Amino acid sequence: MANDNSYGFATWTSFIEESQIRALLKYKVKYYFAGGKPGIIPTDTFADIMAELSVRYKKDPMMALDDLNYGPTGGAPWFLKTLAKRMCKVRKIPIDCETQWEDVSITNGSQQALYALLDTLIDPGDVIITPAPAYLGFLVPAVKLGARVITVPTDNKGIIPEFVERAIHLSKIKFGKNPDLLYVVADSDNPKGTTLPMNRRRALFDICENHNILLLEDAAYAEIQFKDTPKAIKTLDKDNSRVAYLGTSSKEAAVLRVGYSILPDNVREQVLKDKGYLDLCTTTLVQRILDEYYNKHIDDAMRVAIPLYKKRCEAMAKAIDESFPAGTRSDPTGGFFIWWQSDKSDFDSSKFMEDVAIPNDLLYVPGGPFYPITGHKLTADSNDLEPSVPEGNTMRLGFSYAPPDVIYEGISRLGKLLSKELG
Ligand SMILES: Cc1ncc(COP(=O)(O)O)c(C=O)c1O
Repeated sequence: MANDNSYGFATWTSFIEESQIRALLKYKVKYYFAGGKPGIIPTDTFADIMAELSVRYKKDPMMALDDLNYGPTGGAPWFLKTLAKRMCKVRKIPIDCETQWEDVSITNGSQQALYALLDTLIDPGDVIITPAPAYLGFLVPAVKLGARVITVPTDNKGIIPEFVERAIHLSKIKFGKNPDLLYVVADSDNPKGTTLPMNRRRALFDICENHNILLLEDAAYAEIQFKDTPKAIKTLDKDNSRVAYLGTSSKEAAVLRVGYSILPDNVREQVLKDKGYLDLCTTTLVQRILDEYYNKHIDDAMRVAIPLYKKRCEAMAKAIDESFPAGTRSDPTGGFFIWWQSDKSDFDSSKFMEDVAIPNDLLYVPGGPFYPITGHKLTADSNDLEPSVPEGNTMRLGFSYAPPDVIYEGISRLGKLLSKELG
């Protein structure tokens, strides 16, 4: 038809919706508990770094020319060396930071690394395993690329390794496929806020070794920890062959769109090939700013930020315990989120947000989108798979952005409204 201007869009455009978290950004509310926006950023430090850089650039136009130019797809060597140091000295990742800094690469946010990893590993029909619930920024691209997602039960310590074994077994029987990927956020998960204990980290690593699966350890919140956490799963991967480790400056520095990763060589090669076509390279100027931050300021900045985030988390937990109706919440020891589930299975937190929360100046992320739009889960006896169904009586409450008094006030208000609704 002459007027039909749908241009033969790709199939995914008809079944993938805009990210729920992105969609919520349009609302301006007094009590913001939605996206994982950092509320504590050392803005003075970044202002100083930029001021110093502007002086250096005036003095050294060749440096300025390089920093305002295209750079290597995987990141500038001086920045990769800095990141390698942080990862071996602070996170104890087993690379030699003097000689193996080329194992590190950067992306435009860790989101780009998640996407490129999926793009590298997944053909339609391939299988991946995730916790239920899981970070929607990983789930949605996985479904978009045609992955079969098997979700595995979690408890207050995160994903349960025995069920991962079952999922692998059932994937082989039902789909004739060994899963390609297991995705976990080991420290202060998004959305549940749970932290995997060391015995589970080891068990997951061993399972992936035994079944030849790439373990994707998303360490977005590794630096935002209120107490000592177990070592990264990546520390078990002595020869950099089993674990793809992703970090991000978004939560521990500023949202300058820089993620960093250590990937097995053959995976890194393909991911960077993909990135080369996605964006050519990450902005060099931004790498320079972050290089200064990671070399000189991150320890001081974290010393300030961590206790402040902890206070925010405590204010939220207290208000939930005092005012929410019957349900359970997670008890994070870091990160940005508390997960709450109503005891009433028919509660629809998405409808409640539209009808009640937003008109009352409150925003959170309903839990439904943290389950795949199409996917599989284990049956109750874990002998079979059945379609995965979102648990709509859940919500993710972010404590990172608002100060503690606003959190306490807003969550108490939400609690009253929920109690009125749910009795
Ligand atoms: C678990 C997790 N992974 C990855 C990301 C993406 O972070 P970025 O792209 O800002 O590095 C986020 C952002 O909220 C996240 O929570």
